[in-house]
Amino acid sequence: MKKENKSFEYEVYASVNELSEDDKNLMNEAKKALDKSYSPYSNFKVGAAVRLKDDHILSGANMENAAYPMCICAEGVVLSSVESNFPGQEIETMAITAKSGSVTLNSPPSPCGSCRQMISEKENRQKSPIRVILHGEEGPVFIIKTIKDILPFSFDGTVL
Ligand code: THU
Repeated sequence: MKKENKSFEYEVYASVNELSEDDKNLMNEAKKALDKSYSPYSNFKVGAAVRLKDDHILSGANMENAAYPMCICAEGVVLSSVESNFPGQEIETMAITAKSGSVTLNSPPSPCGSCRQMISEKENRQKSPIRVILHGEEGPVFIIKTIKDILPFSFDGTVL
Protein backbone atom coordinates (compact mmCIF):
# COMPACT_ATOMS: atom_id res chain seq x y z
CA MET A 1 0.00 0.00 0.00
CA LYS A 2 1.11 3.52 -0.66
CA LYS A 3 -0.53 6.80 0.09
CA GLU A 4 -1.03 9.52 -2.45
CA ASN A 5 -2.03 13.09 -2.00
CA LYS A 6 -4.00 15.56 -4.05
CA SER A 7 -3.85 19.26 -3.31
CA PHE A 8 -4.54 22.41 -5.22
CA GLU A 9 -3.82 26.10 -5.09
CA TYR A 10 -6.42 28.80 -5.34
CA GLU A 11 -6.32 32.55 -5.22
CA VAL A 12 -7.73 34.43 -2.25
CA TYR A 13 -8.59 38.11 -2.58
CA ALA A 14 -9.56 40.17 0.46
CA SER A 15 -12.51 41.72 -1.37
CA VAL A 16 -14.14 42.12 -4.78
CA ASN A 17 -12.30 45.44 -5.15
CA GLU A 18 -9.01 43.55 -5.52
CA LEU A 19 -10.22 41.70 -8.62
CA SER A 20 -9.30 42.64 -12.20
CA GLU A 21 -11.90 44.79 -13.97
CA ASP A 22 -13.11 41.79 -16.03
CA ASP A 23 -13.55 39.58 -12.97
CA LYS A 24 -15.21 42.37 -10.99
CA ASN A 25 -17.67 42.97 -13.83
CA LEU A 26 -18.49 39.28 -14.10
CA MET A 27 -19.08 38.99 -10.34
CA ASN A 28 -21.27 42.07 -10.59
CA GLU A 29 -23.39 40.32 -13.25
CA ALA A 30 -23.71 37.29 -10.95
CA LYS A 31 -24.84 39.60 -8.14
CA LYS A 32 -27.39 41.27 -10.42
CA ALA A 33 -28.70 37.79 -11.29
CA LEU A 34 -29.64 37.27 -7.62
CA ASP A 35 -32.71 39.39 -8.38
CA LYS A 36 -33.82 36.76 -10.89
CA SER A 37 -33.76 34.00 -8.27
CA TYR A 38 -37.06 32.25 -7.62
CA SER A 39 -36.40 30.74 -4.21
CA PRO A 40 -39.49 31.09 -2.01
CA TYR A 41 -38.83 27.77 -0.25
CA SER A 42 -35.20 28.11 0.82
CA ASN A 43 -34.92 31.92 0.70
CA PHE A 44 -31.41 31.20 -0.56
CA LYS A 45 -30.61 33.09 -3.74
CA VAL A 46 -27.77 31.98 -6.00
CA GLY A 47 -26.53 33.95 -8.99
CA ALA A 48 -24.11 32.73 -11.65
CA ALA A 49 -22.58 34.54 -14.62
CA VAL A 50 -20.27 33.26 -17.33
CA ARG A 51 -17.89 35.00 -19.67
CA LEU A 52 -17.51 33.19 -22.98
CA LYS A 53 -14.25 33.14 -24.94
CA ASP A 54 -15.79 35.69 -27.32
CA ASP A 55 -16.56 37.97 -24.33
CA HIS A 56 -20.33 37.44 -24.28
CA ILE A 57 -21.70 37.38 -20.72
CA LEU A 58 -24.74 35.36 -19.66
CA SER A 59 -26.25 34.97 -16.22
CA GLY A 60 -28.84 32.94 -14.38
CA ALA A 61 -30.25 32.22 -10.95
CA ASN A 62 -31.67 29.28 -9.05
CA MET A 63 -35.30 28.34 -9.69
CA GLU A 64 -37.21 26.39 -7.08
CA ASN A 65 -40.42 24.40 -7.17
CA ALA A 66 -43.02 23.28 -4.63
CA ALA A 67 -41.90 19.77 -5.56
CA TYR A 68 -38.53 20.37 -3.89
CA PRO A 69 -36.30 17.94 -5.82
CA MET A 70 -37.13 19.79 -9.02
CA CYS A 71 -35.16 22.87 -7.91
CA ILE A 72 -32.64 23.98 -10.53
CA CYS A 73 -29.32 25.46 -9.39
CA ALA A 74 -28.07 28.77 -10.79
CA GLU A 75 -25.02 27.10 -12.32
CA GLY A 76 -27.21 24.66 -14.27
CA VAL A 77 -29.45 27.49 -15.45
CA VAL A 78 -26.54 29.46 -16.87
CA LEU A 79 -24.90 26.38 -18.42
CA SER A 80 -28.17 25.51 -20.18
CA SER A 81 -28.45 29.08 -21.35
CA VAL A 82 -24.98 28.89 -22.93
CA GLU A 83 -25.84 25.69 -24.79
CA SER A 84 -29.18 27.10 -25.98
CA ASN A 85 -27.96 30.50 -27.08
CA PHE A 86 -24.29 29.95 -27.93
CA PRO A 87 -24.02 26.24 -28.69
CA GLY A 88 -20.49 24.90 -28.51
CA GLN A 89 -19.01 28.20 -27.31
CA GLU A 90 -16.25 27.97 -24.74
CA ILE A 91 -16.74 29.34 -21.24
CA GLU A 92 -13.67 31.10 -19.89
CA THR A 93 -14.87 32.04 -16.39
CA MET A 94 -17.91 31.48 -14.17
CA ALA A 95 -18.72 33.76 -11.22
CA ILE A 96 -20.98 32.42 -8.48
CA THR A 97 -22.49 34.30 -5.57
CA ALA A 98 -25.29 33.73 -3.08
CA LYS A 99 -27.46 35.54 -0.57
CA SER A 100 -29.01 33.77 2.38
CA GLY A 101 -32.36 34.65 3.90
CA SER A 102 -31.07 33.82 7.38
CA VAL A 103 -27.37 34.73 7.72
CA THR A 104 -24.91 37.10 6.11
CA LEU A 105 -22.61 35.07 3.88
CA ASN A 106 -19.13 36.26 4.81
CA SER A 107 -17.32 33.38 3.12
CA PRO A 108 -17.54 32.24 -0.51
CA PRO A 109 -20.43 29.91 -1.47
CA SER A 110 -19.48 26.39 -2.43
CA PRO A 111 -21.10 24.96 -5.57
CA CYS A 112 -22.95 21.71 -4.89
CA GLY A 113 -21.64 18.38 -6.15
CA SER A 114 -24.12 18.20 -9.04
CA CYS A 115 -23.10 21.64 -10.26
CA ARG A 116 -19.42 20.74 -10.04
CA GLN A 117 -20.17 17.67 -12.16
CA MET A 118 -22.06 19.77 -14.73
CA ILE A 119 -19.25 22.32 -14.97
CA SER A 120 -16.75 19.47 -15.23
CA GLU A 121 -18.65 17.99 -18.19
CA LYS A 122 -18.57 21.38 -19.92
CA GLU A 123 -14.79 21.55 -19.34
CA ASN A 124 -14.46 18.10 -20.91
CA ARG A 125 -16.55 19.11 -23.91
CA GLN A 126 -14.68 22.32 -24.56
CA LYS A 127 -11.31 20.76 -23.67
CA SER A 128 -10.25 23.74 -21.58
CA PRO A 129 -10.58 24.72 -17.92
CA ILE A 130 -13.24 27.04 -16.58
CA ARG A 131 -12.05 29.53 -13.96
CA VAL A 132 -14.50 29.81 -11.07
CA ILE A 133 -14.84 32.98 -8.98
CA LEU A 134 -16.69 32.64 -5.67
CA HIS A 135 -17.95 35.41 -3.42
CA GLY A 136 -20.58 35.59 -0.69
CA GLU A 137 -22.16 38.84 0.45
CA GLU A 138 -18.99 40.13 2.06
CA GLY A 139 -15.50 38.87 2.85
CA PRO A 140 -12.94 37.15 0.65
CA VAL A 141 -13.15 36.05 -2.97
CA PHE A 142 -11.76 32.70 -4.06
CA ILE A 143 -10.64 32.01 -7.63
CA ILE A 144 -10.25 28.38 -8.64
CA LYS A 145 -8.50 27.68 -11.92
CA THR A 146 -10.50 24.61 -12.90
CA ILE A 147 -13.59 22.95 -11.42
CA LYS A 148 -11.58 19.68 -11.35
CA ASP A 149 -9.64 21.12 -8.41
CA ILE A 150 -12.78 20.97 -6.28
CA LEU A 151 -14.10 17.78 -7.88
CA PRO A 152 -11.19 15.35 -7.58
CA PHE A 153 -11.77 11.89 -9.08
CA SER A 154 -14.59 13.34 -11.18
CA PHE A 155 -16.68 10.95 -13.22
CA ASP A 156 -16.30 11.36 -16.98
CA GLY A 157 -17.98 9.81 -19.96
CA THR A 158 -14.94 8.08 -21.44
CA VAL A 159 -15.85 4.79 -19.74
CA LEU A 160 -19.40 4.68 -21.12
N1 THU B 1 -28.25 26.10 -5.12
C1 THU B 1 -27.68 26.58 -6.26
O1 THU B 1 -28.31 27.30 -7.04
N2 THU B 1 -26.39 26.20 -6.52
C2 THU B 1 -25.63 25.41 -5.73
O2 THU B 1 -24.50 25.11 -6.08
C3 THU B 1 -26.16 24.96 -4.44
C4 THU B 1 -27.57 25.26 -4.15
C5 THU B 1 -29.66 26.48 -4.84
C6 THU B 1 -30.63 25.35 -4.92
C7 THU B 1 -31.73 25.83 -4.02
O3 THU B 1 -32.62 26.66 -4.78
C8 THU B 1 -31.03 26.70 -2.99
O4 THU B 1 -29.76 26.99 -3.52
C9 THU B 1 -30.87 26.05 -1.63
O5 THU B 1 -30.29 24.80 -1.74
